[in-house]
Amino acid sequence: MFDLSYLIDPVYIATIIIFIIGLQRMSHPLTARSGIIWAGAAMLLATLVTFLTPALSNFALIALGIVIGGGFGYIAAKRVAMTDMPQMVAIYNGMGGGAAAGVAAVHLLGPVHFVTGSLAIVGGLIGAVSFSGSLVAFLKLQGWMRPRPVTFTGQQIVNMAVLALAVISGILVLFQPSWSPIPYTTALWLFFLLSLAFGILMALPIGGADMPVVISMFNAFTGLAVGLDGFSFATPNYAMVIAGIIVGAAGSLLTVLMARAMNRSVRNILFGAFGATEETGVQIQGSMKSVEPDDVAVMLAYADKVIIVPGYGMAVAQAQQKVKELMDQLENRGVLVKFGIHPVAGRMPGHMNVLLAEAGISYDHLFDRDEINPEFQSTDVVLVIGANDVVNPAAHREGSPLFGMPILDVEQAKNVIVLKRGQGRGFAGIENDLFYRDNTRMLYGDAKVSLGTVVQAVKKL
Ligand code: TAP
Repeated sequence: MFDLSYLIDPVYIATIIIFIIGLQRMSHPLTARSGIIWAGAAMLLATLVTFLTPALSNFALIALGIVIGGGFGYIAAKRVAMTDMPQMVAIYNGMGGGAAAGVAAVHLLGPVHFVTGSLAIVGGLIGAVSFSGSLVAFLKLQGWMRPRPVTFTGQQIVNMAVLALAVISGILVLFQPSWSPIPYTTALWLFFLLSLAFGILMALPIGGADMPVVISMFNAFTGLAVGLDGFSFATPNYAMVIAGIIVGAAGSLLTVLMARAMNRSVRNILFGAFGATEETGVQIQGSMKSVEPDDVAVMLAYADKVIIVPGYGMAVAQAQQKVKELMDQLENRGVLVKFGIHPVAGRMPGHMNVLLAEAGISYDHLFDRDEINPEFQSTDVVLVIGANDVVNPAAHREGSPLFGMPILDVEQAKNVIVLKRGQGRGFAGIENDLFYRDNTRMLYGDAKVSLGTVVQAVKKL
């Protein structure tokens, strides 16, 4: 057999460049899809070239792993509903963390050198935390576990104690001191079990709706763990090191950006048990006024300018196609239609952009908060489709859990129509006085069904 191992490092460098190009393309909705393809191609290339590693054995086992993992991933990704995407990201990210912990465990089972051993300990700890934490996130988002924050007295002390014990067992693994009260393999088992326990404890107090931020953080953890593991081989695996660092950096940035868009600190998300308490003592004036689809159709069809504000409910109802039909009908009648997109509308970054793009609504119709807010005053009708928190004026009220969150100021429009099923609250769990304003009308029902009826009514006008 020819020794082609000299190809490995240059190909790894090439794949890293492709990863960066892919990531750069993912930063814009128009190029995001191609970004995923670039990054996927880089991953495939890096995996294939790894087979040139000298003395690699167990090919059958590796191939079996790739077939099972790849097959499962392919089928699951084909079947997953858009609204279930966050939990899919959670479980796949968890698998990455678990794999990183596995690589670290294999390294630690052999003769341990101090530098690479310490990197494997840190990588193993972070990978294991990411694995078990992501699994809890998956269970909460999938509805297989109560999504509300799980809290108990002394929680943070217990969490810190478990983390401290994990670190102590890691130190015992690394130094193997003669005075150690437990044998090496027991310390290694303890280290991983305590790290896994810490991941679970870390995720328990986080409410289901805060999970996307936390998943992004676990994603950064996985990247970091993979990057550290890259150093634990006899010759460092640069693809793992650099790709891990990229994922770590991108995940950290995303975590901070998501937290900022919700006007919360990452610390508050991790330790605030958001959703466990509710805003109290707020008197809301006015009453909710419902409206019929036929009346909504007339208001929309004879408006000059309509702004559509989608939210999580549009994703739940999968109403994006009906939104496109309505937009087409209105534009055919000469109505100016724009979309106001809040950065944290829905449950994952870019959630609304993805759904609207899927329905064929061109990107030039979409406007972010700073662009659209000055326009509400001159708008005849704002159609709020399954959005709640991102249009809640309580964000302007001191003491509200939403206080300070930059919102879409839809209440400034001449008329506001809100599509939702009933009295359900948003993720923050607080009342929305927008629904009680004089210029607001409620169109109750599933957003897809309501929009279907409105579209038919507009067609008849
Ligand atoms: P939410 O505040 O979650 O409100 C969604 C509304 O949709 C609910 O009030 C619900 O009322 C309605 N709804 C649900 N199913 C529906 C259906 N089938 N048809 C019509 N309406 C339906 O949504 P939002 O305004 O998009 O805000 C997002 C929230 O999630 C923010 O608080 C944000 O901070 C948080 N968050 C976002 C992210 C990212 S990255 N996007 C990550 C974490 C957390 P009914 O039950 O009465 O229908």
